[in-house]
Amino acid sequence: MTNIDYTFNTDFSGVLGEDYDLLKHICPTAIEMSHLVGATLKGFQQSNTRSESPCLNIVELGCGTGITTLSLLSACEGIALTAIDNEPTMLNQAKHSLLDYVKSKQLSLVENDALSALSALPDNSVDVIASAYTLHNFLNDYRNEVIEQCYRVLAPGGLFINGDRYGLDDISAHTVLIQKEVGQYFKVLKELNRIDLLEHWIVHLFSDESQNHSMRESEAVQQMTRCGFNSIVLQDRSDVSALLTAYK
Ligand SMILES: C[S@@+](CC[C@H](N)C(=O)[O-])C[C@H]1O[C@@H](n2cnc3c(N)ncnc32)[C@H](O)[C@@H]1O
Repeated sequence: MTNIDYTFNTDFSGVLGEDYDLLKHICPTAIEMSHLVGATLKGFQQSNTRSESPCLNIVELGCGTGITTLSLLSACEGIALTAIDNEPTMLNQAKHSLLDYVKSKQLSLVENDALSALSALPDNSVDVIASAYTLHNFLNDYRNEVIEQCYRVLAPGGLFINGDRYGLDDISAHTVLIQKEVGQYFKVLKELNRIDLLEHWIVHLFSDESQNHSMRESEAVQQMTRCGFNSIVLQDRSDVSALLTAYK
């Protein structure tokens, strides 16, 4: 077995980050969710009549290696996207694969933590905040502060889109899904002979499922409401994942 720093099991600095592209085999839903985030942005852009500027100002939280970033950029022309991540192992892969978008100034990649980056933005300055599989990694208190900041920086009528792990309220049903997920990790990573990576993903899953991280669906919707959001919709559920949209 590899040496894992069990105190930092939510981060993507080591083998999880280096081999993040294997996620498409372990969890194909994650890739589909990024497409949905992009498609939702496209729908918003097409129906958006409130902004004077034709260029949407978008912030992505936790861009990782750039899977969701690419979906956002491919879905729409005329966007200015600032993608934030605090993990260089992940961000450097995005820098490499999305270089053309950076050069054409459609994309700016920022190494920072989500809360600091949002806190530095002016009120009402962003049209869309988009994210996938990032917020569930946050501790609950930190996530609450991030969502408060999202509300503050979004312009009135602005959209929050998050494709993520939204746990079922029914804990028994949720546990069955997690058991299925563990089975999938074993199946894929044993076939690939990547027991080292299997250990890392299982450790990471324990963190995702811990009480101070997990985002249960009703609680998550209530949290968005408390922060001021309206028209909150949780849809497109696929196992433990779902897409949440909400407006300021
Ligand atoms: C599971 S990856 C998701 C990446 C991408 N959206 C996708 O679906 O493939 C989560 C990313 O969030 C980043 N992250 C976690 N906590 C963060 C924080 N507090 N601030 C900024 N980024 C963070 C991690 O470094 C990681 O790259």
